[in-house]
Amino acid sequence: MNQVEDVKKKISEKLIFGYSLSRSALFFMESKPLPYIRKIFDKNSTAEVPEEFKKKSFEELSKLLESDAKNITEGIYPQSVLTMEKPLKHLKRVAKIWKDAFFVSYRRSRNKNKEFSKKATKLLGDLPSYYKRNFHNQTDGYLSETSAEIYDHQVDMLFSGSTDAMRRSLLKPLDSFFKGKKDFKILELGCGAGSFTQFLAKTFPGANITAVDLSAPYLKKAQENLSDFDNINFHLGKGEDLDFKDEAFDAVVSVFLFHELPLQIRKELISESKRVLRNGGFFGLVDSLQLDDTSELNWALNEFPKSFHEPFYKNYIKNPMEDIVEDVFQVRTAKTSKHFLSKCVTIEKSI
Ligand SMILES: C[S@@+](CC[C@H](N)C(=O)[O-])C[C@H]1O[C@@H](n2cnc3c(N)ncnc32)[C@H](O)[C@@H]1O
Repeated sequence: MNQVEDVKKKISEKLIFGYSLSRSALFFMESKPLPYIRKIFDKNSTAEVPEEFKKKSFEELSKLLESDAKNITEGIYPQSVLTMEKPLKHLKRVAKIWKDAFFVSYRRSRNKNKEFSKKATKLLGDLPSYYKRNFHNQTDGYLSETSAEIYDHQVDMLFSGSTDAMRRSLLKPLDSFFKGKKDFKILELGCGAGSFTQFLAKTFPGANITAVDLSAPYLKKAQENLSDFDNINFHLGKGEDLDFKDEAFDAVVSVFLFHELPLQIRKELISESKRVLRNGGFFGLVDSLQLDDTSELNWALNEFPKSFHEPFYKNYIKNPMEDIVEDVFQVRTAKTSKHFLSKCVTIEKSI
């Protein structure tokens, strides 16, 4: 690379980093009223954040945003993954989230986590019992249009605008895996409102993508959000009991799914992923850090299930995903990388 190109690349990297850091500051500020709303219903609800955690989390957040900017300038994924929404749309959603925070706090203060509106109750049907809950104490759990509309933004308030960069950490190992290959099929489990699905579609325009989720409203939202792409199929279904043939996919991926599942379902979902994966195929996930992955950040992992309804999280952080994945795939070759409050675990199915 000549000097001019090198300088251009460095400048572009710094600009993207600056943009992401400002975005992060915006979401951090938007999250500020939430502890005060919580205190209205529960006076002792907010724990003091330890100094060690603050310092380390800022360090790790900066590292994440820097590596995300580098991946974009190196062309691992396109700059179009950074989307900017209209300010008014953004502000209206912030208002909805602050409004819903009163209901979230009230539900939390009464320790209620299975409350659904009439409309959401109709969707409960024969969904698995572990799923019929108000995850994060959110109104209607995963079963309403409003929940689907505000979910991504709520999570971004929790992670100070870094959620997408954490999601994108899975694109780098996927890019290495697919180098030089064409016409591949990717299955995404627990796609939610489609944030990671969109990154997949933009990074691998030639891929055939199938996105699965258990929530009809979230899947509908994902379909609306991704209506510009013609290479994505959407399926309502359970990750642990898939409607696809053996060895139908080249890669199976998921983002922030496993921490919301009981241990047994985590194992079943990985077995099912292995079944639908071709020999030599790629399995990868991004999810929360687990205990002692980054010990200075353990505080947040212990605090999270106290502040939000996350019934399987305590068990999740104690059972390393690497071990479960290796046991199911029967190879000891899982790779892990850490990205702020998340980690990315990957493995290949033996040939
Ligand atoms: C925490 S959200 C993560 C959504 C999205 N992947 C993201 O990056 O934010 C978990 C998602 O997994 C879905 N889900 C939970 N259990 C599932 C299962 N057993 N099979 C398929 N989807 C599931 C939920 O409906 C929800 O959309």
